[in-house]
Amino acid sequence: MQDKIVVITGASMGIGAALARQLGQQRAIPVVVARSRMELDAVAAEAHPLALAIVADVTQRADVQRVVAETLARFGRIDAWVNNVGRGISRPVLQLTDDDIDAMMAVNVKSALYGMQAVMPHFQERGVGHIINVSSMLGRIPFASVRSAYSASKAFLNSLTINLRMDLRTDYPHIHVSTVYPGVVATEFGLRALGGGHDSRQFPGAATPEEIADAIVGCLLRPRADVYTRPGQHAQVAAYFAAEDVATVEAGFGGPPVGKPRG
Ligand SMILES: NC(=O)c1ccc[n+]([C@@H]2O[C@H](COP(=O)([O-])OP(=O)(O)OC[C@H]3O[C@@H](n4cnc5c(N)ncnc54)[C@H](OP(=O)(O)O)[C@@H]3O)[C@@H](O)[C@H]2O)c1
Repeated sequence: MQDKIVVITGASMGIGAALARQLGQQRAIPVVVARSRMELDAVAAEAHPLALAIVADVTQRADVQRVVAETLARFGRIDAWVNNVGRGISRPVLQLTDDDIDAMMAVNVKSALYGMQAVMPHFQERGVGHIINVSSMLGRIPFASVRSAYSASKAFLNSLTINLRMDLRTDYPHIHVSTVYPGVVATEFGLRALGGGHDSRQFPGAATPEEIADAIVGCLLRPRADVYTRPGQHAQVAAYFAAEDVATVEAGFGGPPVGKPRG
């Protein structure tokens, strides 16, 4: 990983910040992206002496294009790009508004789409590169119905990721495209969900952000299409889709406690 330039969106806290620190320990150079300048600067300073912090709102296409331009201006190349920004929602299907859907699509889908589209010309020019999209187990099995439009947006992201990989396979075999599927992770994700909700850090058995960062670093070192972050998760997905009647499986879903929506 030494001197690899890795752009991480959503790196001012949580999984993105843990990934930046972990990459720094491996002597890769993280480019950390988020909206909060102070937090970003702190993460960058801790991660690597050459780390670059770029304040950007990745729901804005122009901001994402600026991240590519500023990174190339500083380092001359980008080796990997991790679309990690994401936001939850605490709203069941029957309460979803148009604005809820638009917000989930903007932050969980368009942010990653802009990243893939903005960095790809550079990857194609070099013939190498790695896109990692951070999805969720909820994008594979929507077992927490209160996360409704969040899970749907992650399923959307999964499809885009697969299709990009298919499109690149023949002409660009050294450009890798991967999806990572964390389960519940102990970050501020739950509290920051649209509509509020349960603190993910209180959820028994939640993974640490470092555990997910480890899995992402593993994928950077050994690229693969799908990355499940805990043993058993892949089997859980396979069992769900293999079921003759998914309704019987759904009856057993506990799902993460997300609390009562506040707004
Ligand atoms: N935590 C979980 O339980 C869990 C489970 C499965 C999957 N995931 C996925 O893992 C990823 C990371 O989640 P996390 O738990 O680390 O979340 P988090 O702690 O809430 O951090 C989210 C990060 O994204 C940044 N961000 C949010 N909106 C942004 C925007 N428009 N432009 C730029 N940056 C933005 C935030 O910084 P600023 O506010 O400073 O911009 C922050 O750095 C997400 O894709 C999430 O869906 C999380």
